[in-house]
Amino acid sequence: MDPDTPNFDSLAHIYRWMEYCSFGPMLERCRFHFLSRCVQARHALVLGDGDGRFTARLLAANPAVHADAVDASAAMLAVLQGRAQSCCPDADARLHTIQADLRQFTPNGESYDLVVSHFFLDSLTDDEVSALVERLLPSLTTDAIWLVSEFSVPEKGLRRATARMLIRSLYFAFAITTRLRVHHIPNYAKVFRDHGFHRREDAGYLGGILTAELWERRTD
Ligand SMILES: C[S@@+](CC[C@H](N)C(=O)[O-])C[C@H]1O[C@@H](n2cnc3c(N)ncnc32)[C@H](O)[C@@H]1O
Repeated sequence: MDPDTPNFDSLAHIYRWMEYCSFGPMLERCRFHFLSRCVQARHALVLGDGDGRFTARLLAANPAVHADAVDASAAMLAVLQGRAQSCCPDADARLHTIQADLRQFTPNGESYDLVVSHFFLDSLTDDEVSALVERLLPSLTTDAIWLVSEFSVPEKGLRRATARMLIRSLYFAFAITTRLRVHHIPNYAKVFRDHGFHRREDAGYLGGILTAELWERRTD
């Protein structure tokens, strides 16, 4: 792995508890908000799912889906695989884990009808999100959906200041623990629109500081 790649290995076993201590169940609710919309999916690409809570729930909720889970962290992928195996007896047949830096990753001829990125796009710059979408597009079906969970900065008021402070402190903590070099949430919405996606639904949590979004590819 490139020495420049953020390294989340040391957080793999404590990530879930760090999250519960700081946000309670809110990130979890955000992550699972659109899970019921994944029941038709047949081949999912899960980007940076960390300890695999979403991937495990996806495999359990949809017995027909196959998932490719890509993450740079070997330790996160090991936790993800263990979690999937403990909740789905056939996980080995339906889950493929890939250790790769998503700033370089290109799928290998697959055809995905579902892409998932929960609290991952914030690890990338605008240009990196754009390059990632361009590399994924040829491997997405024409009606693919993309689920996003992210931190968000409300337009105004106290919640805006709170969100900015919170996001700054999270980036500071991740810079120290994982060598993450990004400091701003990228404008992924613009990148998605520029590449033919439209936001079909969204939901806010924590007064709009967290957002769950369902994007749909439009090829007309
Ligand atoms: C903040 S965690 C989010 C984990 C999970 N998706 C969630 O909902 O909490 C970010 C994850 O993305 C992975 N990651 C960060 N940058 C990456 C990159 N450039 N390539 C691949 N994985 C990366 C990390 O290893 C980590 O597992």
